[in-house]
This record gives sequence, C-alpha cells and structure tokens, in this order.
Amino acid sequence: MSNYWSKIARNLDPYVPGEQPKDRQYIKLNTNENPYPPSAQVISAIHSATNEDLKLYPDPNGEALRRAIASRFELSADQVFLGNGSDEVLAFTFLAFFDPGRSILFPDITYSFYPVYANLFHIPYRCVPLNEDFTLPVSEFRGDNHGVIFPNPNAPTGNAIAAQAVEEILRHNQEHVVVIDEAYIAFGGESAVPLIRRYPNLLVIHTLSKSHSLAGLRVGFAMGDPELIRALETIKNSVNSYTLDRLALAGAEAAIKDTAYYQGTKIKIMRTRAHVVSELEKMGFTVIPSQANFIFIRHPVQDAAELFRQLKEHGILVRYFPKPRIDQFLRVSIGNDAEMAAFLRTVSGLSIPYGPAPH
Ligand SMILES: Cc1ncc(COP(=O)(O)O)c(C=O)c1O
Repeated sequence: MSNYWSKIARNLDPYVPGEQPKDRQYIKLNTNENPYPPSAQVISAIHSATNEDLKLYPDPNGEALRRAIASRFELSADQVFLGNGSDEVLAFTFLAFFDPGRSILFPDITYSFYPVYANLFHIPYRCVPLNEDFTLPVSEFRGDNHGVIFPNPNAPTGNAIAAQAVEEILRHNQEHVVVIDEAYIAFGGESAVPLIRRYPNLLVIHTLSKSHSLAGLRVGFAMGDPELIRALETIKNSVNSYTLDRLALAGAEAAIKDTAYYQGTKIKIMRTRAHVVSELEKMGFTVIPSQANFIFIRHPVQDAAELFRQLKEHGILVRYFPKPRIDQFLRVSIGNDAEMAAFLRTVSGLSIPYGPAPH
C-alpha cells in the first residue's frame, strides 16, 4: 500500500469474491451461479441491442425495464430502482437509509458484504447471533437500532423465514428502514414484496444473477415505497447516472418477461437440491434446510477446510468460510444434475479419516 492511498482506502477490509481460477476446468459450485443458460429471448434481445445506438447513452432511469419489473410484481414503476447488480443497490441502500453514528442490525452469520459497506460508510452495526440451528431469531430484531438488513433466505446458510416473520420484524421497526435482500427468494422462500403496500419502510432487493442466470450481466433492483426509491435515485445520481448499459437493460427486460422459462429452470434446481440433500444425509452430512440455490453442509468427521482442499484437488470448487461458528461447514451451489452427480461421487470416494468429529 503506497502513501498515495487515501485514509479511507488504507483502512478498508474489502469483500473477497469466490475464486474464479483459470488453471484448469472446474465444476464451479462456489459462487451460486445458475447452471442453466439465460433464456434464448435474453440473448436475442442483447443481439438486437448491439447496434450503433451504443454511441448514445442509455436511458438513465431504465424506464422500460422498470415498467416490466413493476408489472411482474404488481407495483408501479416509481416503486422500482435499478442497479448494476444487487451489490450496487445494497451499497446505495446503506448510503440512502443508514447514518454514521446510528447503529443498524444484521445477523452474525450473513452476506459478508454488509459489514464491508457499513465500514466503508462509517455506519456502526450490531450483529444479532443466529440461533444454534442457524435459524433467524426473529424477536431479537427489535429495540434500539436505526435500521435492519438481512437476506431471506439467509446466506450462506440457505435458511428462510416466512413472510409473517418478516412482518413481525417490520412491525417492531417502523421508525427506520428494514431491508430484505431476496437474492435467493425464487428457490422456495416467501417474498416480502406484497408487504410493500402496507409498510413504507420496507425495501426488498432482488437480483437477476441467480434466478435468471444473468450473473454476467449485472442487474439488480430494489422495490419499495416511492419515497425510498427517490432516496436511492438521489444517491445514484450523485455517483453515476448511467449504472446500467444498453445491453443490460435490453437483456434484463427480456429476462423479466420470460417467466415460463425461468419457472422451468427454478423447478429443476429445486429438484436437484432435494436429491443432493437426501444423498448427503445418507452419507451422514448435516445439511441446513435450504430454500436457496445452494446448501450449507457439515461432514460428520472430516475437517471442512480439508474437505474443501480435497474437492478442489478433484476439480470441484465449493466455498469455505474460515469464520467463527461456520468453519466446519461448506457452501455448495446447486449445479445441474451431471455436476451434482460428479460432486456426490467425489465426496463419497474421498478418503475420510476415522476419529472424533472436529469441534
Ligand atoms: C445475499 C446476497 N445478496 C446480494 C448478492 C449480490 O448479487 P449480485 O450483485 O450479483 O446481484 C449476493 C451474491 O452472492 C448474495 O449472496
């Protein structure tokens, strides 16, 4: 780090994305990408948008895409905000609704970008410990705080809470904004979007990265009361007016409209998940109940870091978090049937030492 770095840059502890190694071909089960291709209509929309209009700036407000999202979720366009991936929407959300010096709440085990944004923007936070079984302690999300954020389903556990439980949290936090990060909601959870009508302090964030097979296009969006959306626009227009390019806007609009295709891929992923869970349980793994396109698993004997290493050696990448409480777990994205068969074969063939379970 050189003297040229600002104090802010010097003090940052940035998010570390899942590895994308190029040294060999891996079965990639480490970043929760969707194993199925995007809808053919997305590819064709991006082709059509690849023309000389690229010399012009895109629509800064992405009106057509906002209308498509609004119509899909029975909202109005002024209840939708677009961003370059939901990570950007999350960053703007921290700036728009949380203040330096006023503490917010999120779970102790959760999406690791939240503490990164909180530190970047000097927002103090308190981590609410998940229950022993990694379920969310709903009644702990109340009291003296100035904002709440959590993913539903949670990451990296995959555990979801019912919309009724989200509503209980909203009822106890009406003085400030409650953000529900629904990156994985398509895979079995119950969305909080219908609550937007009744709770002007609710912001729900979605992404096309997982459910719509578009991690490479970078499109996320927030839904909430028009007042909240205006705050997000104010932040966005103070950073970069054109966060979504023409190709992303065209592709995302086609994706949102092709509900039949994505319904199909979602069902395939949920079926594969059920099969993998049952096979792993037969092998003695603990599997946290998942409503996401990944599972969080613990081997009865093998150390998780060692299992991670052995899988990588066999060409299978999963995610390991060397963090308190979860350092004996691995997060495994649900790939297609062939990928998951290879994963199961590899796991069952590994040489597992006998002995007492790790701590
Ligand atoms: C809980 C959660 N929220 C948000 C994101 C960000 O997704 P994207 O920026 O691709 O939309 C992720 C990605 O892994 C995630 O796990």
